[in-house]
Formats: sequence, C-alpha cells, structure tokens
Amino acid sequence: MIAQLGQSLDGRIATPTGDSKYINRDAALDHLHAIRAHVDAVLVGIGTVLADDPLLTVRRVPGRSPARVILDPSGRTPRDARALADDGARRVVITRPGARAPEGVEHVALGPEDGTIPPAAILGALGALGFTRILVEGGARTISAFMDAGLVDRLHVLVAPLILGSGRAGLDLKPIGPLSQALRPRSRAYLLPDGDVLFDCDLTAGPEVVAAE
Ligand SMILES: NC(=O)c1ccc[n+]([C@@H]2O[C@H](COP(=O)([O-])OP(=O)(O)OC[C@H]3O[C@@H](n4cnc5c(N)ncnc54)[C@H](OP(=O)(O)O)[C@@H]3O)[C@@H](O)[C@H]2O)c1
Repeated sequence: MIAQLGQSLDGRIATPTGDSKYINRDAALDHLHAIRAHVDAVLVGIGTVLADDPLLTVRRVPGRSPARVILDPSGRTPRDARALADDGARRVVITRPGARAPEGVEHVALGPEDGTIPPAAILGALGALGFTRILVEGGARTISAFMDAGLVDRLHVLVAPLILGSGRAGLDLKPIGPLSQALRPRSRAYLLPDGDVLFDCDLTAGPEVVAAE
C-alpha cells in the first residue's frame, strides 16, 4: 500500500476551510496521476469526497484509471460524487453494516456498528475484490489510520514551497514520547522541475542509520 500527501512547507494539506486545490504544482500532480496509473485501486475517506469532490482518474499522464474506493462508514457519499461517475472504472463504497451506498456501485459493508473500521479489515476486503496495489490518497484521518496500523509500505510526501500557517496537518498519528520513537523511514528526496520536492519514504525498511555525535 502506498500513501501520498501533498503538503505545504509547514506540513499542512488544506486550509482551515478545507481548500487544498492545489497545494502542489504541475510536476507533483503529474506524479500523483502516474502513481494512480500503476495501482489497482485508489482509496479516499469521505471527508475528502465532501471537501474536494475529486475525480481520482488518470488524466495528466498516459495510463489506465484505477478502481475508485470511498471509505464512508455512515453512508454520506453524495449520489453525484464525481468519483462515482460511470466511466468504466470499478467504483466501490465501503460502509459500516446498515449504512447505504449510492446505487450502481459496489458496496462493501464492514466492521463494527460504530467506531473505527480496522484498517486491516479494509485492506482484506480490498484484496477480496482483487485489489492488491492500493493508493491511499487522503485525507489526513484515513492515511493516519493506515499508517498507525503499520499497513503503509511507501509514503510519498510532495512538499510545495508554500506556507499556509494554519489548517489541516497531513498526519495525525498516535502520540509518541521521546524523539527516539519517531518514524525515521529510509527516504530519497527528488527536486521536481517546478520546485516541489518529493520525499519517497520506504516504511518497510529499517530506519536510516544516523551516526551519534
Ligand atoms: N493535499 C492532499 O494531498 C490532500 C489529499 C486528500 C485530502 N486532502 C484534504 O484533507 C481534508 C480531508 O481530510 P479528513 O482527514 O478530514 O478526511 P478523510 O480522511 O478524507 O475522511 C475521514 C473520514 O473517513 C472515515 N474514515 C477514515 N478512516 C476510517 C476508519 N478506519 N474507520 C472508519 N471510518 C474511517 C470517517 O468517516 P465518518 O466521519 O463518516 O466517520 C472519517 O471522518 C480535506 O480538506 C481535503 O481537502 C488533502
């Protein structure tokens, strides 16, 4: 599973009003579409659907659009959500048991009657649908739940030289104590042609060895 965050220099993925289009510039958006073209399914939380109404298609680069999956425990997905457009890609809505999904899409009911749906169960359900390469594209709560569960293999953070100063943090993980408990994934940084920086973080590898001073 790969996750991506498009964020400002100060680690924000949206303004306080939820505006996030677009923090990144063209090369980063091209990169995001290229990842979409390489996965079986792209998954977003209902918060992202309600805030951004994303298409989640591959439009900026050649390639096939993946299946689109909305994690929507209470069945709040609007019938006319753009991610559910009938364009030939599979469309899936995951809810808790008893919640409704819009007609005409695949509906998976999962988890307890309330509270968090275990991310491992979500991953298992996606596997049962035939999806193994999955991109979690947002938002903060959804990516954080998969990160906290240790299910994200690769994290791509696309940092734009932009300071929002307020707004949504990209990640909200379980609190840690000492700095030594921080995740320190093996990472490579790439300067994109128009100034954004891609951090490609391998969360499956051990931490970088940092020499003690
Ligand atoms: N810059 C970027 O890269 C980027 C990408 C995507 C989104 N965004 C921004 O992020 C913001 C949305 O983020 P968000 O954190 O508010 O929303 P989100 O992660 O898109 O969706 C959160 C909702 O999804 C459901 N959910 C997620 N994980 C769950 C789990 N394990 N079990 C049960 N329910 C789960 C819950 O729905 P219920 O509330 O119904 O329980 C939760 O409130 C928007 O402002 C959007 O613009 C930015």
